[in-house]
Amino acid sequence: MADDRTDWADERHRRIIEEQRKFLWMPEQVERLASWIGFKPGWTIVDIGCGYGYVGLTYAPFMSPGGRIIGVDREGPLLEEARARAAKAPGECTFDFVGGEAYSVPLADETAEATFCQTLLMHLAEPERALAEMVRVTKAGGVVVCIEPDNSPGAAFYASVFDFDFDDRMEAAAFEWRAHYGRQARGRGDMAVGSRVPEMMDRAGLVEVEARQNEKVWMLVPPYEAPQQQHFKRMICDNFERREEWREEVREDYLAGGGEEEKFERYWEKWGERGREMVAALERGELFATGGGTFYIFKGRKPAA
Ligand SMILES: C[S@@+](CC[C@H](N)C(=O)[O-])C[C@H]1O[C@@H](n2cnc3c(N)ncnc32)[C@H](O)[C@@H]1O
Repeated sequence: MADDRTDWADERHRRIIEEQRKFLWMPEQVERLASWIGFKPGWTIVDIGCGYGYVGLTYAPFMSPGGRIIGVDREGPLLEEARARAAKAPGECTFDFVGGEAYSVPLADETAEATFCQTLLMHLAEPERALAEMVRVTKAGGVVVCIEPDNSPGAAFYASVFDFDFDDRMEAAAFEWRAHYGRQARGRGDMAVGSRVPEMMDRAGLVEVEARQNEKVWMLVPPYEAPQQQHFKRMICDNFERREEWREEVREDYLAGGGEEEKFERYWEKWGERGREMVAALERGELFATGGGTFYIFKGRKPAA
């Protein structure tokens, strides 16, 4: 199957990973997850699809001193940025960022005590193949950690300006599911992959599969004073302003999912209008909103030899 050729290093996608990472976790949950994963000073970890190194940089303090973090990604510019960020990281860990494909990771078998991915599997046509590589590079008795969402269309999202009736909801759901299936058919990944990870881990031979969820709740309550809400507000306004940049991608997904050209045009216009109402309410300080998908953290152990 063709794979996602999204260029994560281009300005548009890079901006998304940068912005979304700013308030992704609550620091106290990171501490709890670190103890759940069982980090120890001196561990080696591998992070596949590392981008600019977010996972390794977040957890490095729990492996210091003597920890080694190896990030693997196929985008050279992101790896360069990862190296620059790692050079300024506190603590005593070493970082290596190497170019490579998730389906053929350029590392020896049993390299790491723990192997991670965060929002990688959701973008792959064959997530099982990448998971098999993660298992391969993990030592016997080590852990594989997959941090992946289920952003199924229709995931709870409330916005106080929308007075949806039944037909609106059905129309939105039909559009989103078509785009979702089209995206999969085009090899661009599965936004709902998170819910499939436990089964994938079991089939990959991992044991003691456990899960947690990100505790962060995305919401807007006027006057949006908290830094997270200010950030969320900026993201919504910015995404709306740049909406046209996504048009072609969404259109192709929708058509590949069996949608019709004319319906796409109508929907795009109608929901553009709704987006405008939402941004206007936000700028007036009148919008309440809550929601998002489910963001899972799965852990499985590679059986001891
Ligand atoms: C959504 S970003 C997540 C980056 C990082 N894990 C984080 O959470 O900030 C997905 C990353 O996976 C990388 N990627 C996508 N497909 C890949 C593949 N087949 N092999 C290696 N890296 C890949 C992209 O270049 C990008 O950096």
